[in-house]
Amino acid sequence: MCGIVGYIGTQQAGHLLLEGLTRLEHRGYDSAGVAVLGASGSALKVAKQAGRVRDLTEGLPKRFSGRVGIGHTRWATHGPATDANAHPHTDAKRDVAVVHNGIIDNASTLRRLLADDGVDLVSDTDTEVLAHLIARSESDTLEGRVADALALIEGTYGVAVVHADFPDRIVVARNGSPLIIGVGDKEMHVASDLAALVRYTTTVAHLDDGEMATLTATGFTTYRQDLTATANRAQTIDIDPSAYDAGDEGGSFMHREIHEQPRSTERVLRGRLDERFGTAHLGGLNMDARETRAIRRVKILGCGSAYYVGQMGASLVEELARIPADAEAASEFRYRNPIIEPDTLYVAVSQSGETIDTLLAVQEIRRKGGRVIGLVNVVGSAIARECDGGIYLHAGPEVAVASTKALTNMFLGFALLALQLGRVRDLSIADGKRLIAGLNRLPEQIAELLEREDELAEAAARLAEADSLFFIGRVRGFPVAREGAQKFKEITYRHAEAYQTSELKHGPLALIDESVPTVALVPTDELTDRNVGAMHEIAARRGPLVVVTHEDVDLGELDAVRIDVPRNERELDPILLTIPLQLLAYHAALRLGLDIDKPRNLAKSVTVE
Ligand code: F6R
Repeated sequence: MCGIVGYIGTQQAGHLLLEGLTRLEHRGYDSAGVAVLGASGSALKVAKQAGRVRDLTEGLPKRFSGRVGIGHTRWATHGPATDANAHPHTDAKRDVAVVHNGIIDNASTLRRLLADDGVDLVSDTDTEVLAHLIARSESDTLEGRVADALALIEGTYGVAVVHADFPDRIVVARNGSPLIIGVGDKEMHVASDLAALVRYTTTVAHLDDGEMATLTATGFTTYRQDLTATANRAQTIDIDPSAYDAGDEGGSFMHREIHEQPRSTERVLRGRLDERFGTAHLGGLNMDARETRAIRRVKILGCGSAYYVGQMGASLVEELARIPADAEAASEFRYRNPIIEPDTLYVAVSQSGETIDTLLAVQEIRRKGGRVIGLVNVVGSAIARECDGGIYLHAGPEVAVASTKALTNMFLGFALLALQLGRVRDLSIADGKRLIAGLNRLPEQIAELLEREDELAEAAARLAEADSLFFIGRVRGFPVAREGAQKFKEITYRHAEAYQTSELKHGPLALIDESVPTVALVPTDELTDRNVGAMHEIAARRGPLVVVTHEDVDLGELDAVRIDVPRNERELDPILLTIPLQLLAYHAALRLGLDIDKPRNLAKSVTVE
């Protein structure tokens, strides 16, 4: 949430910063800005405005030269998206420029104190106080001034600071919001996300919480906020920079990411399946067989779609390992003073590994002595580093705000976990092998489903016309319905509500008429007949139906658009039922002419509470 970039080196900073911001726009896209510094003695130049990075690029003044600079894309927290609220923020004399990701909790107190002292605050933001506090510090060094200011601040931040009196450096600091330093050839970069760095360098250093750094054109140093040195070193990472390039021909990352799933699912399974013993090998869990057998409960925590996949994961764990399991929204968990049990395995699930609610839940559990493992996509992210062990999802970079391929790999991560937990308990070797065979079939079955995109686009066209829709399913199908509704509402702005099919008669059926379509999940399982019955009840009330089902399900004389998905083992059905829902949402949004990768009001990583 909010994107930060910084550059110092031999090239003109302006265009590099704008290019970096374009690659970070999925983190926030309501305003953007850059600040650059020229040679010693020259004034700080700032350009910022509400709107997209492309608007800023078009409006950039002709004379905007400088080889040091910082930039920002904003997702508004304090104050609306206006030019004044866009970052960078400066002090009154325009010596200091600051970009910030996070939330300063005591900003209103600090704003009041500054105002009482005669400071003219020109924005509604929390960040502006930082610029004024840095300007007021009497330290001789920029490092000291930034540290003085941060000492007065409560909250979370990733910040980057430039100062006209110190044109040979950028000072950055992290507490809760990611910052990554990129080491180039006679140049240094900093960004809140690898996406902005990989085109220039793959030699990077992740800052730790409480750490600061100074970047000069020739290197970087890291230190704590009391200015004592830390030993953070850059490492070369193995990453394909083209994974961050613009989306497919349609220009959409979401479409490209949906179609990557046959390959990305192979990656999460690779090397982790033991066909001989019908189990999974997950070395990263850091648990021996005795500890694994001692687990009495599994509690899964995630936000949004990760929470819904967590519910799918809980079913997998209960069915395969016969361990009581449930999922809870991480954003609620720590506020109800949860009981942390020593024999419960806590599982934090997150694509970004940055979601603050999930991170804070992890910290709360660990503080109380619980064991947490992470199912995380972004390697080295805060949640991954905070956990006792984990399973990396290997989905590759996910840029579209609406998550698809990462969620699919979360499901597979849970399948692997359930398999490993199950096989040290009562799951038979035959069932283990059955599951492994099913997992191995999945990539091809997903590819098969994706080939039927035209069929789904047609169904989506009808759904796009409705203002309000239901997504319904039962038991294993209910979290699928929740995820389907989530994806649909996120990118089409249509009201999409998920319900258990069994609960329809207890209320929502009152809303069904010819204007309210229902997307129903009717897999072959022990509830098929009941589900089919419910479809007929909807049809009898003239409710349009899209039924996502299996070929062998007999829908009778039902007037419905039918989408058959390939059959796999019943435990793995949820993921094959989910894929068509991704394409329904995508094609409905496409038809409505919406910005699919950057839905309004949202951002890719939610790093503020
Ligand atoms: C939905 C979506 C969000 C995220 C949620 C958690 O498409 O993308 O609901 O799933 O914000 O994000 P991560 O997985 O990064 O913790």
